[in-house]
Amino acid sequence: MSNKKVLLLVGVLIAAAFILTACAGPAGAEGPAGPAGPSGATGPAGAAGVSPAATDLTCTECHNDGTELTSKTAMWAASLHGSSLVYVEEAGRAQCSFCHDGSAFSESVAAGLAPNKVEVVHTNATPQDCRACHQIHTTYTSADWALETVAPVAFFAAADTTKATFDGGMGNLCANCHQVRSVFTPATDGNVKITSSRYGPHYGPMSSILLGTGGAGLEGKPSAHYSMVENTCVTCHLGEGTNHTFTPQVSACVACHADATDFDINGVQTEVEEKLEVLHTKLVDMKLLNPDTGLWGIYDAATGKWSNPSADAPLVVTEEIGNAMWNYKMVVYDLSNGVHNSAYTKALLDATLAALP
Ligand code: HEC
Ligand code: HEC
Ligand code: HEC
Ligand code: HEC
Ligand code: HEC
Ligand code: HEC
Repeated sequence: MSNKKVLLLVGVLIAAAFILTACAGPAGAEGPAGPAGPSGATGPAGAAGVSPAATDLTCTECHNDGTELTSKTAMWAASLHGSSLVYVEEAGRAQCSFCHDGSAFSESVAAGLAPNKVEVVHTNATPQDCRACHQIHTTYTSADWALETVAPVAFFAAADTTKATFDGGMGNLCANCHQVRSVFTPATDGNVKITSSRYGPHYGPMSSILLGTGGAGLEGKPSAHYSMVENTCVTCHLGEGTNHTFTPQVSACVACHADATDFDINGVQTEVEEKLEVLHTKLVDMKLLNPDTGLWGIYDAATGKWSNPSADAPLVVTEEIGNAMWNYKMVVYDLSNGVHNSAYTKALLDATLAALP
């Protein structure tokens, strides 16, 4: 309301008061009682209720100001489990989700599915996070740090799965994903038809190497690290479960290798690295004769892939060379340069060196 209107209204009211008083006669009889008034104002607050004490919430067994959760989270975030974005691209397919989508892994393990039988595909996949390895948010108590699975792992890609079962304590958790993924098909007529530039066991054949299996045309024996290191992968890579960078520590070796100052015990890593270099050079130099297109190199050093094979024009090589190609990848992808199983690794390398021209 504008000021002018207010002034005008006040003026009208004063005028009306004069007129009313001027005309007043004697007071009439008292009128009837009016209707009940509005309800009164809210009363005062009641006595304070009792909030649950922090110690009553099981959540605080983990979510507290201690270091247990936060230190692990920081280490995990720096590891490839936490920092690699490979899962964004690879987890959206049923053949890949078991190992590349942490939540698909948990669901598949709970359903008892092997990696090649998975049907779970999530639009929003997750990395290999706390929930992939631990039972997080199941009972909402610290019992949820329990591992998702420690059951022995039958290698699903092995020719005979009953003969290739990894049973390495808590390391079984890791073996679910870090095992040979591709099924090796032995040559039937002495020749191997290679139809994928990724021919080989796939990245991460560590548990197969420890068990001394998965190579092409060459089986070995389980290493001392499989039979004598109590929780296999976990003992060397996580220590007492504290190291969540997942990088092995020399402190895990000294219990058995008292003088160890690095991983290169007895020069095994140096020897394996040298042999891998010789093989790499051989593969890069290797030319095959294609009747249609002439000589071409089979290995592309820049991408680490085999050249040109496709389903239409497969690369056809002798069984010896096909096996060598597989076994070279097996040792490269094991990434331990012989530590996981020195005898089997050296046997694979020596057979490969002998097979290549
Ligand atoms: C066994 C330990 C544990 C217990 C018990 C626990 N949490 Fe968690 N919680 C975790 C972990 C591990 C994460 C994931 C942390 C990360 O990714 O950084 C998490 C994450 C969370 C988050 C963040 C959102 C999410 O889901 O990632 C919330 C909110 C949460 N918890 C609430 C609770 C509540 C509420 C309770 C109790 C009812 C509880 N938590 C009990 C371990 C636990
Ligand atoms: C049995 C488990 C398993 C399955 C199934 C699997 N992978 Fe993997 N993959 C791994 C592991 C383990 C690694 C990492 C090895 C390492 O670095 O130690 C890996 C690594 C990779 C990498 C390399 C990442 C890099 O940093 O170079 C690519 C790409 C990849 N996988 C693609 C796929 C695709 C595509 C599929 C499905 C067609 C698939 N994977 C299925 C276990 C698996
Ligand atoms: C690749 C698997 C893996 C991932 C991912 C992982 N952990 Fe673990 N964690 C383990 C293993 C194995 C142990 C050792 C278990 C044992 O000793 O009982 C462990 C132990 C622990 C412990 C000690 C448990 C105890 O019984 O006292 C804590 C706490 C923990 N992890 C927290 C986390 C948190 C937080 C994350 C996510 C940021 C995480 N972990 C991710 C495998 C994993
Ligand atoms: C759910 C599947 C899965 C489980 C379980 C798992 N990993 Fe992995 N791990 C992977 C994949 C996939 C990668 C590669 C990450 C990427 O590039 O996406 C990887 C990477 C790694 C790396 C880094 C490798 C590199 O190239 O530098 C280490 C070390 C490792 N894992 C150790 C372990 C250990 C030890 C365990 C058991 C405690 C374990 N992993 C359990 C899938 C898994
Ligand atoms: C005897 C101890 C030991 C055991 C048991 C062991 N590892 Fe390793 N692992 C090593 C060492 C040492 C390396 C090489 C590290 C280096 O040279 O930097 C390695 C390398 C790796 C790498 C590559 C890591 C990187 O940063 O490049 C992965 C992934 C891996 N191991 C996974 C596993 C898995 C999965 C298992 C169980 C199936 C396992 N390891 C068992 C000691 C062990
Ligand atoms: C539980 C005991 C134990 C632990 C822990 C252990 N090793 Fe071993 N390691 C052995 C035994 C036993 C052998 C076999 C010795 C032999 O054949 O002469 C061996 C053999 C090796 C070999 C092969 C030696 C050769 O000459 O062929 C290497 C390399 C090796 N270990 C590295 C490591 C590293 C690196 C670690 C820690 C990350 C480690 N080991 C942890 C017991 C262990």
